[in-house]
Amino acid sequence: MCDRCKSKPNSDGYPLLELGPWAKNKLHYLRYYSSLFTNGMKSRWPETVYLDLFAGPGLCTVRGTGETIQGSPMIALSQMPPFTHYVFVDSDESHINSLNARSQSINAASEKLILPGNCNNSEIINKIVNFIPPNALCLAFIDPFTWDIDFKTLRALTGSRRVDIILVFQIGGIKRAIESNTTSLDQFFGDDGKWRKLVANALPNQRTRSLLDHYRHQLSSLGYLGQQYPTEVSVVNTKNVPLYYMVFATKHPRGQDFWQKAIHHSATGTRTLPGF
Ligand SMILES: C[S@@+](CC[C@H](N)C(=O)[O-])C[C@H]1O[C@@H](n2cnc3c(N)ncnc32)[C@H](O)[C@@H]1O
Repeated sequence: MCDRCKSKPNSDGYPLLELGPWAKNKLHYLRYYSSLFTNGMKSRWPETVYLDLFAGPGLCTVRGTGETIQGSPMIALSQMPPFTHYVFVDSDESHINSLNARSQSINAASEKLILPGNCNNSEIINKIVNFIPPNALCLAFIDPFTWDIDFKTLRALTGSRRVDIILVFQIGGIKRAIESNTTSLDQFFGDDGKWRKLVANALPNQRTRSLLDHYRHQLSSLGYLGQQYPTEVSVVNTKNVPLYYMVFATKHPRGQDFWQKAIHHSATGTRTLPGF
């Protein structure tokens, strides 16, 4: 079992991934966006695909509360109307086994591809690309614990396709990685290490903004729209410190409208301010 899962299994016999209370906001934005996406697009796009590259076991528990909540895969599977296709990837075998069991009876009519392994692996990417129908509209949710999503993976999955992206940008971990000058950020930004110069030139209080802008700039090289207004939303801890940003990217203005609606309210009902 993964060391982030609660040692006592859920009543269904499978593990629960333990998340901080702030994760409820992250999942709320995903739920809201998915609902606008499947409802708003059903008449225009006969095939819709949900891609979850860091899927987890399907159900989670909120640390310190005992509350069980749906993880991103179950949120996507519960949408009405459902996506016509689902792809779930996780590198942890026990998460994949749990997800296989938990997703079996939900949306039986939708096609599902559940893959154990690293989502950056070329064989996994090929399987996903072959599974996606040629004219489908897709939503990719990318929720790593770190920054373990290579930019080339995004390029391979989104090239010549309509894929909206919601990506959890782990700003705290990324800033710590910058201090250790890691090369793993080269793969994340996909920029041959240009981020180093950017960080060196940014004032300390502008670092977060410049890293987010740089990532968005990279996304625009894949055909994603430039932003008319800030589209990332911060998810904060109990001390109001941003833990991560949810970066959104789309190739269509309608996607931007949906995202603005989705981030307008947090899970607690309070109005959120996108960006800073
Ligand atoms: C933050 S959790 C995802 C939580 C999930 N989105 C949810 O809402 O329940 C990150 C997941 O990514 C998996 N993981 C870590 N590195 C991975 C990789 N390179 N490829 C695929 N999955 C990975 C972990 O096993 C873990 O289940």
